[in-house]
Amino acid sequence: MAIRRILKLGDETLRKTSRPVAEVDKRIKVLLDDMAETMYAADGVGLAAPQVGVLRRVVVIDVGDGLLELINPEIIAAEGKQTNAEGCLSVPGRRGDVERPEKVTVRAMNRRGKEIEVTGEGLLAIALCHELDHLDGIVYVDKVVGELRGEEE
Ligand code: NI
Repeated sequence: MAIRRILKLGDETLRKTSRPVAEVDKRIKVLLDDMAETMYAADGVGLAAPQVGVLRRVVVIDVGDGLLELINPEIIAAEGKQTNAEGCLSVPGRRGDVERPEKVTVRAMNRRGKEIEVTGEGLLAIALCHELDHLDGIVYVDKVVGELRGEEE
């Protein structure tokens, strides 16, 4: 496992659309391992592959309930609304309020190539939406309601 460099807002790679993974090969497994290590080392709750410069549809999330590894994730159901402060490892020292669904269900593939479904409410719903957005070149700052602010404000 290795810690990878996290790209910062302004890097063009963060604005590109990531390609689906056809097969979960060794390379993708190493990517998943490295992404988890990088996320934990940076004290984040989620990380998407484009943030480490890899334009593949892969995300890792851990909001405190264990590691989720999602390959080719898609939102298949969403309900309700919540507005909460978000931050992003690619936008250090900043936070801003974003409106998201209260509950989402995501279909994805796990590292064994098996189809899985994950339903998340609250913080997990936010993390799922936030990380999936990265796969389409969307950064939360695009959706901030009001001002982007410093972390301590
Ligand atoms: Ni982010």
